[in-house]
Amino acid sequence: MPSFKVFAGVFASVISLGLSTLPAAAQADYPSRSITLIVPFAAGGPTDVVSRIVGDHMSRTLGQTIVIENTLGAGGTMAGARARDATPDGYTLITGHMGTHAASVALYPNLKYNPSTDFEPIGMIAGTPVLILARKDFPANDLKEFVTYLKANADKVNMAHAGVGSVSHVTCLLLNSILGIKPTAVPYNGTGPAMNALVGKQVDYMCDQIVNVVPQVQGGTIKAYAVGIPARSPALPDIPTSKEAGLPEFQASAWNAMFAPKGTPKPIVDKLNAALSKALDDPTTRKRLLDLGSELPEGQARSSQALAELVKSETSKWSTVIKAAGATN
Ligand code: MLT
Repeated sequence: MPSFKVFAGVFASVISLGLSTLPAAAQADYPSRSITLIVPFAAGGPTDVVSRIVGDHMSRTLGQTIVIENTLGAGGTMAGARARDATPDGYTLITGHMGTHAASVALYPNLKYNPSTDFEPIGMIAGTPVLILARKDFPANDLKEFVTYLKANADKVNMAHAGVGSVSHVTCLLLNSILGIKPTAVPYNGTGPAMNALVGKQVDYMCDQIVNVVPQVQGGTIKAYAVGIPARSPALPDIPTSKEAGLPEFQASAWNAMFAPKGTPKPIVDKLNAALSKALDDPTTRKRLLDLGSELPEGQARSSQALAELVKSETSKWSTVIKAAGATN
């Protein structure tokens, strides 16, 4: 009769065999049901739009529906926490961005996740340059007049953003610290609703990702003073760069990227990375993203490793900016 020790050893190896066999079978079948892609901001905003465009093509490659779940709150960090806690089986993913997966670290001392260690990076979706915007009837016709007006009326103007730590919040923190002003901030659950408020003239200005801006600028419903990147965007060729417009210190470009919870098996991460890359090569998907001003990653910049490095470098970069701005949550 085997001793308890031997029996326990056999039992343990059956368990471990089971554990290593089951995921392998599940990995081979993946995906066998629909995938949830968490978007940390309101529907209709830039993160949502970019996620739906690539998700649409990826679902065709993967043969399963990708269901977008807008999980709102706390500048996108509620969604980050929800994704961190999800089962790491490839069926729950998140579109994180420069805010949720970098800048938030410096603004939330009790952030419930670590962007660098709690996720498996899948890949970069798109770079999204940030613009300085105002309501259509704002009394400034160019960036110089805007700066002069803001400095003279800092106690009267208000600025819309998508929650502490969001791209719109952090990039306007940079703008405000360059100008030395602290306006009233008006938070929304995303720049989709914040843009509605800007178009409706309920708020004065905001900093937002180009994807949310192109249709409004083309429709003449808001003012765009400058884009915070070194060269003009082909999607909005008439909008000057911040350098051309006289504020070269305002350099602000965001990014959106796909992540899975830590522990998601590598074959699944690789399959998702390949599906994302295929979406970024698809002419129709590319056109939709490029028409909205997105900057698409190519080659090595699409790898999981490149995204892991980006998260680290951006966390450090925005932490320096936020400290210099003296901002706290
Ligand atoms: C959104 O999708 O609403 C934006 O990405 C929010 C932001 O970070 O400004």
